[in-house]
Amino acid sequence: MDLHERIFELALSRSFFYPSNEPYGSSSGFYDYGPVGVLIKNKIQNLWRRVFLKELGFHEVETSIITPSIVLEASGHIGSFADPVFDCAKCKSRIRADTFLEKEVKGFKWDGKLESLANAGKNMHCPSCKGLLSQPYMFNLMFKTGIGGEQSAAYSRPETAQGIFTSFPRLFRNHGTKLPLGIGQVGKSFRNEISPRKGLVRMREFTQMELEYFFNPNQPQFDRFNEVADEKMRVKIDGKISWKTARKLVEEKDVCNEIMAFFLVLQWKFYKLCGLDENKMYFRILPKEEVPHYSSGNVDMEVETSYGAIEISGNAYRTDFDLSQHSKFSKQDLSVFVEEEKKKIVPHVFEVSMGVDRMFFCMLEHAFREKSKEKEWEWFDIPPQISPYEVAVFPLMKKDGLAEKAQEVSALLRVGMDVFYHEGGSIGRRYARADEIGVPFAVTIDYDTLTDNTVTVRYRQNGKQERVKIIELSARLLENIKAGKAVL
Ligand code: GAP
Repeated sequence: MDLHERIFELALSRSFFYPSNEPYGSSSGFYDYGPVGVLIKNKIQNLWRRVFLKELGFHEVETSIITPSIVLEASGHIGSFADPVFDCAKCKSRIRADTFLEKEVKGFKWDGKLESLANAGKNMHCPSCKGLLSQPYMFNLMFKTGIGGEQSAAYSRPETAQGIFTSFPRLFRNHGTKLPLGIGQVGKSFRNEISPRKGLVRMREFTQMELEYFFNPNQPQFDRFNEVADEKMRVKIDGKISWKTARKLVEEKDVCNEIMAFFLVLQWKFYKLCGLDENKMYFRILPKEEVPHYSSGNVDMEVETSYGAIEISGNAYRTDFDLSQHSKFSKQDLSVFVEEEKKKIVPHVFEVSMGVDRMFFCMLEHAFREKSKEKEWEWFDIPPQISPYEVAVFPLMKKDGLAEKAQEVSALLRVGMDVFYHEGGSIGRRYARADEIGVPFAVTIDYDTLTDNTVTVRYRQNGKQERVKIIELSARLLENIKAGKAVL
């Protein structure tokens, strides 16, 4: 069994995630997060808020999901957010044309023209039912709806970014009328992917954490760049991976400017904090021909998994493309006055676009640990900052006042932590259950607790134990969580 299949099995049985609407057979590309998964996902999102917004003095918004079609005409999504497909005349399934032909026809590489797909796909048959395939056509990936009925066309947003662009003029006025201005959003995006597979990697409804950094193009520096300039990251340039500092990336013009380099360092640190293995991730500098029309430089974060390399974030220097387009379509002036230059400019935008779900899956693969001599169960080495529960609390026995005392300790800890409380079964089995979902610390309340108000703290990583006074417990655990330690 491949690692991703094992992870999927564990995700189902340990309430990380599972297919949506299971009793009805589930539509592919939709997943629900269970109680354990939700806790982890919320922690990832809150950590992102801290690292990418709060610590930098940026702002968070929550914009509408349903988006009028004119907004998406302006952004280019109505015209070009589409993949080429064939339809099967017999079973009606839809097949992604370019990837299908690249697999089926030796040496075929799509040049972006429908005509090439039509020639290469002539008389080809459906891989599942052998029905004849249709002419290729472009299939728009957005989910269409109507506002107040059919009259006014609208779509579920395909990225959270557009709501940030349309919020920009108001937020610029309300929050200091100065550049740079950082605005972020965490929320659902929707893409009607063609035959999605690979679980959380390709979904039709997924969560993004996006940051749009609006700046004056005449000042492409970042004031905190020097703090991170010597940080090293793995980068893939022209197919070769090497370690490079942020400073070198700027000097050698691998990235557009200091702003881009700064946000790459921030992502590198963030992904490490979330438990990704730094030797299995790298930034891929996209060659010119892969850079989208709206961008003048793109860098993807890719992570090595049992599915192969997965893109988990995209960084794009979107220039003034979006604001200029929205100016044109809304007939509003979205330029801003720059005091130092005594003139109006359209700000440029640098975008960091990170998917939560793909990263969640990669984290589970990297954090997975096999059974060993020390532990007879499979477990997850999830970092304390994003583990579902920071601490487990177990009374040694249900009787003699131990359960009551354990409840008391749980209530105390719940002030700053999520607590996994469990009374039943042997203590060994309960330690195993906590390890299996990645809880870093387990606190046991025993008979000595009743007399000396101390508890045993067990550290997940190595099973070592220490005795801690209840009064010092919370501070001790929070200290370890902050340091990312699950070892004594
Ligand atoms: N605003 C730019 C943007 O949306 P993108 O590269 O299309 O860029 C950014 O998406 C991130 O969103 C990806 O790196 C990935 O993590 C996530 N993502 C995109 N499509 C996805 C899908 N179908 N399922 C899960 N995550 C997806």
